[in-house]
Amino acid sequence: MEVAMRFPAALTLLFASGVSLADPQGFEAEARALIPPFAQALQDTLGQALAEGGSRSAVRACQSQAPAIAGKHGRKPWTVGRTALKVRNPANRPDAWERRVLERFSAAAAAGQPVAGLSHAEVVDGEYRYMQAIPTGEPCLACHGENIDRALLDILDERYPQDRARGFALGELRGAFTLRRPLEETTP
Ligand code: HEC
Repeated sequence: MEVAMRFPAALTLLFASGVSLADPQGFEAEARALIPPFAQALQDTLGQALAEGGSRSAVRACQSQAPAIAGKHGRKPWTVGRTALKVRNPANRPDAWERRVLERFSAAAAAGQPVAGLSHAEVVDGEYRYMQAIPTGEPCLACHGENIDRALLDILDERYPQDRARGFALGELRGAFTLRRPLEETTP
C-alpha cells in the first residue's frame, strides 16, 4: 500500500520539476541554454565588423573569430560548434551522425515544418549530442544568398576556395548548432 502510494508521488515530482524521464540529467536544458549566448556572440561580432568595415571586413572577422567564439562558449564538459550540409569552412563539415540529423532536418523543412523549431537529441557512443537547426535570415543573404556582391565573391573565393555555403534562400535550412558532452564527467 505504502509503496503503491509513493511511486506515483515520485513520478509527479519528476514531471513537476521539468525533468524528463528520457533525459534524467537535464542535458537537453543545458544544451539549449548554451546556444543563445553563442549565437549572440557570433551576431555581435558580425554586426560590429559590418558597421566598422563593411562585408569584406565581416568575412575576415568571421574567418578569424568564429572558431574562437565556439571554443569560448563550450563550457566544460560541453563542446559547441556549427555545421551544415554545405559548408564554407571545411573544418565545419558534419560527421556521419551530424549528416544524418541534417538530412532529417532538411526533409522536415521540405515537408513544411518551420526550420527554427527543428532540434534533435541522442546518446551516441557514450556521448550526449544535441543539434538545433539554423534558418537563413535576411542579414545572412549578403554572404550566403543567391546574389552575393561581386567584390565579396572575390574575397570568399580567395579565403574559401571550397566554399559551398552560397545560393541559400530566405528561411531555408542553413545549418545547425551542434553540441556534445560525455555522459560521465571524465575524472582527470
Ligand atoms: C559577412 C559575411 C557573413 C554573413 C553576413 C553571415 N555569414 Fe555565415 N559564415 C561566414 C563565413 C566567413 C563563415 C566561415 C566561418 C568559419 O570559418 O567558421 C560562415 C560560416 C557559417 C556557418 C558554419 C558552417 C559553414 O558553412 O562553415 C553557419 C551555420 C553560418 N555561417 C550561418 C550564418 C547565418 C545563419 C547567418 C545570418 C544570421 C550568417 N551566417 C551570416 C560569413 C557570413
